[in-house]
Amino acid sequence: MRISERVQGLGSGVFARNDQRKLAYRLRSAGSGLEPLLDLSLGSTDLLPPPVALEVMRQQLLDPASAAYCLHGATAPFREAVASWAKRRFGVQVDPQREVLFLVGSQEGTAHLPLAVLNPGDQALLLDPFYPSHLGGLQLASAQPRFLRLRAEQDFCPDFDQLSPSQWDALKLMVLGFPHNPTATTGEQAWVDAAAERAVRHGLVFAHDNPYVDLALDGEAPALLRSPLWRQCGIEFFSFSKGWCLGGYRLAFAIGAEPLITALRQLKGVVDFNQSTALQAGAIAALEQAPDWPDRIKPIYRERRDRMASVLQAAGWPVRLPSMALYLWLQVPERARLAGLDSEQFCAQLLDATGVCLTPGHGFGDAGEGYARLALVHPIEELEAGAQRMAAWLAQL
Ligand SMILES: Cc1ncc(COP(=O)(O)O)c(C=O)c1O
Repeated sequence: MRISERVQGLGSGVFARNDQRKLAYRLRSAGSGLEPLLDLSLGSTDLLPPPVALEVMRQQLLDPASAAYCLHGATAPFREAVASWAKRRFGVQVDPQREVLFLVGSQEGTAHLPLAVLNPGDQALLLDPFYPSHLGGLQLASAQPRFLRLRAEQDFCPDFDQLSPSQWDALKLMVLGFPHNPTATTGEQAWVDAAAERAVRHGLVFAHDNPYVDLALDGEAPALLRSPLWRQCGIEFFSFSKGWCLGGYRLAFAIGAEPLITALRQLKGVVDFNQSTALQAGAIAALEQAPDWPDRIKPIYRERRDRMASVLQAAGWPVRLPSMALYLWLQVPERARLAGLDSEQFCAQLLDATGVCLTPGHGFGDAGEGYARLALVHPIEELEAGAQRMAAWLAQL
């Protein structure tokens, strides 16, 4: 059957191969006495959402009105709640009618944005490593990706001078995200401000993907909305998936310059009808009645991070302590590199020997080679037991 070249070109294949290995391990370990699979490869949390959000959803689901299609106009209560949140959170006044857009997950928004702002062949800048759907969105729009490499030696600070002024002039879009997945670097407001300044100077759109804005473990996360230039160049994406643990409900929003919001809204008019108003009501309750939920879950992630890091460090595995919750960005240990393993082979052998599944860094771009991402999404006892198995395996390597 005919499949478009566009679709055939999607994805690096690393994630599909990792999934196959996970499945094979699950089948092999069932009833065999092997350790059960400990899947630390996805940023899908085990922590619970605020009960008030679920209770509001439960009640509203019983209202027949919540079964109707939700056209953009009907998302007004949600957009107004978002505008109030933005005022409280960043001190920014935004227009809920023109500058806020409901999204079915922030991934949906960042993946659709290139179709709304780029023409085929246009160039767009991504960080490397990048969140995979940032590249997927460019591929769907037949755009040309360019990469800005983040380096550990520079604490993953983006060096915007890697591109010459004429290379900047050729760009039509830049997609960044701090706090950054997968390096788990919170980043600084000055980095985002500098990016906004470049965007204005060179006339490109700046999309800032910020689902982890409330999960900085050290200091305050940067935000495009805090940059005085956001209305001149940008759009920022926020999510209920991480701070409020509602990933499966697909609730998110964008705030940005009116022309960008209008363009993305027009595009989405072709492809979706938003989520049910019942789910939106739960999201409103999360913002208004559980605004401190991210702060309540941060100590859990901090403890997980610290305990995992100390077990792995004791085993001689250098761990860079991340400044945001949810992930460790682990260098493939020297022993494994000396044994000739790349990040995917390392993760495959680790899974085989210990039942612990990480994501090969290569899945996040060339700059991810030599790394593996570990998501802190299981209870601490399970994480610690997994870390001990990893350490024991490493000692034998
Ligand atoms: C950088 C980044 N953007 C977007 C997403 C997806 O968020 P959502 O659940 O809102 O689609 C993730 C999820 O891991 C992410 O890490």
